[in-house]
Amino acid sequence: MSRQIVLVGRALGAPTAEQTLASLAGRLAERLGHPVRPALLDHGERSVHGALDQCLADGATDILLVPAQVPRDRYLETWSRKATAHWIQKAGMDTGVRVAAGVSETNEVVDALVAAVSGPTRPINESPDAFRSPSWSEITAHRRHVFVCRGPRCSAYGAAGIAKTLSAHLRERGQDDDAVLVTNTGCLVPCNLGPMVVVHPDDVWYTHLDDEAVRRVVDEHLCDGMVVDELRTPRPAPAGAPEPQAPPPQPPEDT
Ligand code: FES
Repeated sequence: MSRQIVLVGRALGAPTAEQTLASLAGRLAERLGHPVRPALLDHGERSVHGALDQCLADGATDILLVPAQVPRDRYLETWSRKATAHWIQKAGMDTGVRVAAGVSETNEVVDALVAAVSGPTRPINESPDAFRSPSWSEITAHRRHVFVCRGPRCSAYGAAGIAKTLSAHLRERGQDDDAVLVTNTGCLVPCNLGPMVVVHPDDVWYTHLDDEAVRRVVDEHLCDGMVVDELRTPRPAPAGAPEPQAPPPQPPEDT
């Protein structure tokens, strides 16, 4: 039997979460003598499905999922299990995948905290200026604001690649934060349509995206101001809202 472990956490926009989890996975693998793969439920590049696919490609017959979050995060535990259940059905792997208790539920986490309390300390001597810099009062003058869903299901469906392509193509087209502001978000609700982005103020939802579709959204909508109708999913009108009017024709924006 070939055992592999998936150490799953959440990034929530923390830029170093992937490296931290990968380093922890490496140290754990050394200690246990089994391969340990880091995975992020949301907001990261290493998705749970990606890690499970790698385990399968390496011939794993026994996979253990370990939620590695302190303090306890029930969202992580619940959605890791649901994402894995989806993967098990798709991969046709009906046995051999189990989940461990979250680390914050173990007594050993208290030992780790005791070690931190009794270990080396240092004074806090950072300047507070960066925290309250006047530049944090400025709202960018962007024309459009794009929200990229990085929730658990969109992450499983490839949101990390979509986010990367979006940023890279915006850079190639010379669109900085003052033209198009991009924000990664948590779940936007219609997860089955992921991966997705929403463009405001136009209120346009682009769904089931792939790299080519994202490049079209950048070129046609974000640069030229023309909504890509064939890639959008219309949003129902709020109850009691007036009938929508046809928008006036829009001239190209970068001429
Ligand atoms: S995870 Fe993207 S809409 Fe729910």
